[in-house]
Formats: sequence, structure tokens, C-alpha cells
Amino acid sequence: MAEGQRRLVAVSNRVGPLNDEGKAGGLAVGLSDALRRRGGLWFGWSGETSDEGTFKEAQTQVQGEVSMTTIDMTEEELEGFYYGYANRSLWPLLHYRLDLAHFDRQSERAYRSVNQRFAARLAPLIEDEDLVWVHDYHFFFLGSELRQSGFKGKIGFFLHIPFCPPEIFTALPASHDLVRAMLAYDVVGFQTDTDRRNFVGFCLRELGGEKLEGHRVRVGDRVVRADTFPIGIDAPGFERFAVSPEASEHEEMLREIAGDRLQIVGVDRMDYSKGLVERFRGFERLLEDYPENRGKVQFLQVAPLSRSELDAYVELRRELEELAGHINGRFATLDWTPIQIMTRGFTRRALAGIYRAARVCLVTPLRDGMNLVAKEFVAAQDPDDPGVLVLSRFAGARAELPDALIVNPYSTDDVARALQRALTMPFDERDRRWRAMREAVFAGPSSNWCDAFLGALENSGVD
Ligand code: ADP
Ligand code: G6P
Repeated sequence: MAEGQRRLVAVSNRVGPLNDEGKAGGLAVGLSDALRRRGGLWFGWSGETSDEGTFKEAQTQVQGEVSMTTIDMTEEELEGFYYGYANRSLWPLLHYRLDLAHFDRQSERAYRSVNQRFAARLAPLIEDEDLVWVHDYHFFFLGSELRQSGFKGKIGFFLHIPFCPPEIFTALPASHDLVRAMLAYDVVGFQTDTDRRNFVGFCLRELGGEKLEGHRVRVGDRVVRADTFPIGIDAPGFERFAVSPEASEHEEMLREIAGDRLQIVGVDRMDYSKGLVERFRGFERLLEDYPENRGKVQFLQVAPLSRSELDAYVELRRELEELAGHINGRFATLDWTPIQIMTRGFTRRALAGIYRAARVCLVTPLRDGMNLVAKEFVAAQDPDDPGVLVLSRFAGARAELPDALIVNPYSTDDVARALQRALTMPFDERDRRWRAMREAVFAGPSSNWCDAFLGALENSGVD
């Protein structure tokens, strides 16, 4: 922490790790970059369950300037709070998937009580001079709980995932309570202007709020700044990863296996928001409509398992494996397997090497807050032979990366056409597009995510 700087206290469900062996997930990656740079306290769930749950003594691990303090949950808390409300109610709803959302009062109760208990455990660890920064949909109520316990300092909130339109959000039985609780924060941050507008729209239409200057909203006696802070990656760091020995080893291995074939990659948690089924169909359509690619391209989908206890995720895995089997069965030859799916985790250095070996990266979510994979792919490219990014119009990253090939992930034909265009793109166009994207990733607004948010938080309430 630099002298005179306030201490950062970050709160999120997942905490750490600070090293390269990140669990898949944009929040953990983004926050560990920020904490490594600035130092501070990172508070959240240990990843463990125990009989005492949130009452069990906290554990603290110190690494350099960062302290990571975590507490357990009971099995029951984990079920209601994490699997239930966070991942069966809020996640699908905020990703515009009302068809997959389940609502029940037991999990809502568990969610509120875990928020309250995490706030109670955090309160004695913080001072009014700290900058408290709460992350993501697991902890919408945490700020208001901290206020009720008497905390007077600044509290900010950042939503890593989309905020859906009010017409969808009002389906959540506790939607009014939840957004009112968000008004306890001084600053609420979103990935894109669309998310911010959806939130502000809810405040105006549902809660009778009014817009003020400076991206502020007033609801009753509360004024909150609702603004856009797109998250970025540590681009110079990732660029260095891409030329590390570990990356090069993976790059070479993949190039050797591919031989003359062009490599297509996808890297996503196995989640229905990522549009993997639609992507596989797009690849199949490529082989159908542009048969010259048969035997000439290969598609590697890295898809680490995520939340695999939930039915929707079990079903997705089954569907993907079936579809990959169907595509391979239909097109494979003795010496060519068109599509490969891998569920294992990689270090981020290894991933950087995989990105670098690819001619095309497919990032085609049906809805995504930002999508860091798109930015990592850009940062990892070889300047002498850059690859092409095919990017969904529904990823937050689209706002900063208009030079990618933008597709509608629901349209099988559109994905197939974009793939064909990417695979046949002349070097000059590839180079021009990549340079523009590189500029955005290295020097655009998202290269400054943490400082921009904390600057806004520090200045909140000062006219
Ligand atoms: P989300 O947050 O929804 O998972 P993002 O694309 O924003 O999506 O972030 C995913 C992060 O997880 C990226 O930083 C990516 O490098 C990392 N990641 C994805 N797959 C793996 C994997 N197999 N092993 C390790 N990290 C991974
Ligand atoms: C997304 C969410 C994070 C979450 C991550 C992994 O990135 O925004 O909050 O941590 O997915 O999901 P998991 O449920 O394993 O934490």
C-alpha cells in the first residue's frame, strides 16, 4: 500500500489465489490482479464447510501486502445461499434466463442470513478510513448489513455479471428489497452502460427514484452513484505469461499436434451463459457449408467444470459431450478429430500458450458481464502472426473490442460465416484488427479498472 493511501478491503465469495494457478472465473482473476498491486484485506468464504459454518473462527493467510481472511459455511448455508439463491435464482435471472430461474423462500432466507453473518464477521476487522469494496451477486445485502452494524466509512459494490432489464428483474420476489439494499453503497459499479441503465431504470420505474447529475440516482433519502467501470486484465503481465517457458511448451505442443491445420480455441467455464452448445453447432455448420475446412481445422474447447452439483450444469455437460461425439462421428477421419473438449484446469501461463497457438478464438456467450478470455486472447498473440477473435455481441467486452468479428451467437449461420471469414482472413486485416484490439486492452478504460473504481469511491459524497 502506498503511503497516505486508504486500505482496500475487498469482499467476495471466492477469495484468492494470488498466484497463477487461478480457479477459472473472472472475479478471482480480476481481484487478485488488483490486490497484488495495491495490497489490503481480502475477505470471503474459505471454500470449506464445517458444522459451525459462519460462526467458526476465521482463518487468515498473509502473502506480501495482502491478508486473506476467510470463514466457513455450514452445508445448509452453502446449499441455500450459494447453490440456491446465488446460482439457481440470481445467476440465471441476471443473465436474462428467466426460464432457468427458481425462486423459493428458504434459499432467500439463507442468502440474507449469510450476508448478515459475513457482515457481522467483517465489521470488527474494518475501520471507517478503509475503502470497503464488495463484489458480485453473492453479496447484494452486505453493505446495508454493515451500515446497520454502525459502519460509517465508504462502501462500494461492483457487479461482475450483467444486470438484466427491469421487466425481467421484477420477477425476483425480493427485487425491491434487493435494489433498496444496494442503495446503502456509496458507489455501485457495472461492466457496461446497458447494465447501468437497467439498474437505474429499475430505481426510477419501480422505486420512484430520480436521476441526478454525475451518474447519481436518488431514491428517498439515499443518493448513490451508479456508474460503468469495465474490468480489464493485467495486460503487460499476461503478455509476459504468453512468452514464458510454460506457455511456449503448450504452444509448441499444440502447434505440433495441429501440423498444417488451423487451430480454433474456446476457453470458458462450463456454463450455460457461455453459448457452448450454440458454438458447437456453429462449428458443425462450418464443416457442412464450407467443406474445404474438413481435415484442415481443429477445434479445442477448454471447459473447466463449474457448479457441477446443479442440474442445469449436469444437463449442459451431457448435451455438450453428446454434441461433440455427434460432430466427431459425422466428420472425423482416421487421422483427424474435428473437435476436442477438455474439462481440466490450466495455469494461466499454459492458457496463454494455448491462445497463442490459435488462429481463431471463439468467445460467443449468450450473455456475459465482460469476458476476460477475449482480452487474454488479444494480449497473448504473437505480433508477427496474430489470431482473430470472434466475439458475441452479447459479451460486455464487445463495447471495447469492436475490431473483433462480432457475431450473434444464437445464429448458427452467423457463427459459421464468421469462422470462415476468420480462417481465411488475409494477414493485413488480421494485423490491423489485432493492433486496434491490443490498444484497447492495454490502454483503454478497462486497463485502469481498480483505480477508476476506488477513485470514484473515495470521491463519493464530495460535491
Ligand atoms: P467467467 O468469469 O464467467 O468465468 P471470464 O472470461 O470473465 O468468465 O473469466 C474466466 C477466467 O478464468 C479467465 O481469466 C480465464 O483465464 C480463467 N480460466 C478459464 N478457464 C480456465 C482453466 N481451464 N484453467 C484456469 N483458468 C481458467
Ligand atoms: C463468475 C462470477 C464469479 C464467480 C465465478 C466462478 O466469474 O462473476 O463471482 O466466482 O464465475 O463461479 P463459482 O460459482 O465457482 O464461484
